[in-house]
Amino acid sequence: MKERARKIATSNGNEWRLADVPETSSLTTLRAAAAHCTACPLYKNATQTVFGEGRKGAALMLLGEQPGDREDLSGKPFVGPAGNILNRALEEAGIDRNAVYVTNAVKHFKWEARGKRRIHQKPSSRDLAACRPWLEAELRVVRPGVLVCLGATAAQAIFGSGFRVTRERGKLLRSQLAPRVVATVHPSSLLRQPDEESRRREYALFVEDLRVALDASRAE
Ligand code: URA
Repeated sequence: MKERARKIATSNGNEWRLADVPETSSLTTLRAAAAHCTACPLYKNATQTVFGEGRKGAALMLLGEQPGDREDLSGKPFVGPAGNILNRALEEAGIDRNAVYVTNAVKHFKWEARGKRRIHQKPSSRDLAACRPWLEAELRVVRPGVLVCLGATAAQAIFGSGFRVTRERGKLLRSQLAPRVVATVHPSSLLRQPDEESRRREYALFVEDLRVALDASRAE
């Protein structure tokens, strides 16, 4: 009966259910349990679970979408091209990445093969729902002063599918999952800007949004 209630969906021989999260206040225990998560089919094609990184009580938690190719291989969040630009922006905003908790809404890399390359695929609402108990557990244990949602998928994981980053970015928001939330663009969007001028403008806005989050975390 309990199993039934935890099931989200079944399709093409695959099953999605809510991740089974241990009741613990230890990030190490959560991480170890997440390493064996099979709540959605993504674990089948991923190298490993990429759990969040950082300390309990971090003033800021950064929430991305899902690990990319480099993160999947290394087991750490935001270590690829998006991570490089994120690191640069954090430094410019005056935020020490080592003092921040960094995680993703989905903990396995979702991809499709194109030749020899593994191309990122957007996680579905079923993938997000299956993985959500891990995020809830991270928020419960880390209790960040401010949660920063990087991009639409992260923001929609917190506020629902109607949320629009373009309308709400850089504002101090509230949610049931985290008392203070700031949404901004995903750092990979900065890499996709068509020209140098828009790259510079978007990067400056991104740094500004990170500063809003930092200021809010200090005002606690
Ligand atoms: N993009 C994300 O959303 N998260 C990562 O960890 C890397 C790239």
